[in-house]
Formats: sequence, structure tokens, C-alpha cells
Amino acid sequence: MKVIETIAGIKELRSTLKGTVGFVPTMGYLHQGHISLVKQAKSENDFSAVSIFVNPTQFGPNEDFKTYPRDMKRDLEILEPYTDIVFAPSTKEMYPEKYDTWVEVKGITDVLEGAIRPGHFKGVTTVVNKLFNIVLPTKAYFGQKDAQQVAVIKKMVKDLNMPLEIVVCPTIREPDGLAMSSRNTYLNPEQRKGAPVLYKALQKAKVMVTDEGEKSVAEIRLAMTDLIKKEPLANIEYISFADNETLKEVHQVKQPTLISMAVKFGKTRLIDNIVLG
Ligand code: PAJ
Repeated sequence: MKVIETIAGIKELRSTLKGTVGFVPTMGYLHQGHISLVKQAKSENDFSAVSIFVNPTQFGPNEDFKTYPRDMKRDLEILEPYTDIVFAPSTKEMYPEKYDTWVEVKGITDVLEGAIRPGHFKGVTTVVNKLFNIVLPTKAYFGQKDAQQVAVIKKMVKDLNMPLEIVVCPTIREPDGLAMSSRNTYLNPEQRKGAPVLYKALQKAKVMVTDEGEKSVAEIRLAMTDLIKKEPLANIEYISFADNETLKEVHQVKQPTLISMAVKFGKTRLIDNIVLG
């Protein structure tokens, strides 16, 4: 496994690679969710590359950029058996002084996470664009866990005619259903105990739609809200029912519908989703 910190270094190595490259962009503090993407990238390509970069431009001024968990040594140990190349640039390498260029997807970034975290997706699309230009992947792998991120990246790739394929991988969960996330480390033991309520609410929606034939978003939202409110530490930020591609809200669950939610435990925001259909 080669660990490279400079853009010039990656470009030089990339020019020697003959064959396909599967790429997984990450912000590090890796868990099994990330590893599932890396394994898939490796299995479908001649070479696999992972980036580790906590991207400052996707964090709002009052968000957790400074406290975001980081452990490069541990991340490299975890990646060693699974990947060929790691790109771990510094902030200065990615955003030198007088950095002025931004990539922004309009429309679908105005809702859900984009509405609550203004500027977040502009930071994501800009850094992902830069990473694609540096690594030149054949395919790039993203987790369904961040459903809106997937929709935004797909839109960018389509709109800008970018020459690569986006592969979406399923959400990996803890045994009790909590979606794995680097931010789960923020939860105290009591909050951690309550956190699977997001998954339980999504499962409730799934039963209502697939087993009971319920289509009314109002009915399903009510049942999900009731269930989450039984968990005293949980505070619902939103529960959304949207078209999986346009992210426009729907009133009936006509498939495929993206049911997504953000729930706060103290200061920690957890997100999760399911696509029905
Ligand atoms: P990060 O949160 O580190 O996630 C990196 C990738 O892992 C994303 O595609 C994310 O959806 C995926 N992932 C996270 N948790 C997962 C889980 N439980 N199951 C499956 N996949 C999971 O997302 C980012 O970083 C950044 O926004 C990034 C794209 C790297 C741009 O900075």
C-alpha cells in the first residue's frame, strides 16, 4: 500500500497505472461502512485508491471541523489489507492560498441536509471534483448512508459530463441497527443506547408500506414520529419523504421514495434513510 500526501505524487503514480481504478473518498476515522466501499472498489477494479481528508469547506462555522475524529495511524493499519493507494493530503495541499474556484449543484442542495447545513454540499462537490481530477478514477464508490450526497454527486457527474461511474453501496449497520458513522463516537453511553431508534422508525415505515400497503405519508410520518418520541433523548430535526432522484417531497409513497431523517441526541446529529421500492 502506497501512502501519498502530494497531488504531484498521486498524478505521477496514476500515470504509471494500466487498468481500472476504483476510488473511495473519505474523511477518515474509518469503520466497517468505509471498508465495505473499499472492498467493493478493490473487487471491481485493477487498482483501488482511498483518500483521507477532513475537508474544511464542507463544515459550517459552528460545526465540528475542529473536533471531527482523526486517527491517521489507525486508518492506515485498517486500510493496509484492502487498498493499493492512500491519498492523504494536507489542507494546504488541497486549498493553497488564494484558492478561488467552487463547484456548486443547485436545486437538490436546497433541501434536507442542504437546508440545515448551508454551503455543505458546495464544499463536498468542490472537494470531490478536485479529488476526481487528481485520482482520475474509473469508478468512485459512495455510501447510501448519505443519500443526498449520492444524489448531488450523481447530478454533478451527469451535468458536467464527468468521465467516471458512480457506484452506490448499501448502508452498513451495527448489530442493533445503528448506521455506522465516524460521528457515533460523540454519543455518550445513554445516547448510544437510544440511537437505534432511527433504524427502528425506518423499519416501521418499511412494514407499513411493504406489508400493510400503507401509502399515506401523513400516516407513516405520524407512526415514525410517535416511535421516536418514545426515546426521551431523541430530538427530531426532520423526517422527509422524497422522490429519490429529484428529492422533491411526496405525499404518497410511490416507489422509489427516499425516507430520510435527521435526529439529534444532545449536540450530535444522526442521519439515516431507506429507499422503498
Ligand atoms: P465520510 O463521512 O468519511 O464517508 C465516506 C464514504 O463512506 C461516503 O460515501 C459515505 O456515504 C460512506 N459511508 C459512511 N458511513 C457508511 C455506512 N454506515 N455504510 C456505508 N457507507 C458509509 O462522506 C464523506 O466522508 C465526505 O463528504 C466526502 C465524500 C469524503 C467528501 O469530503
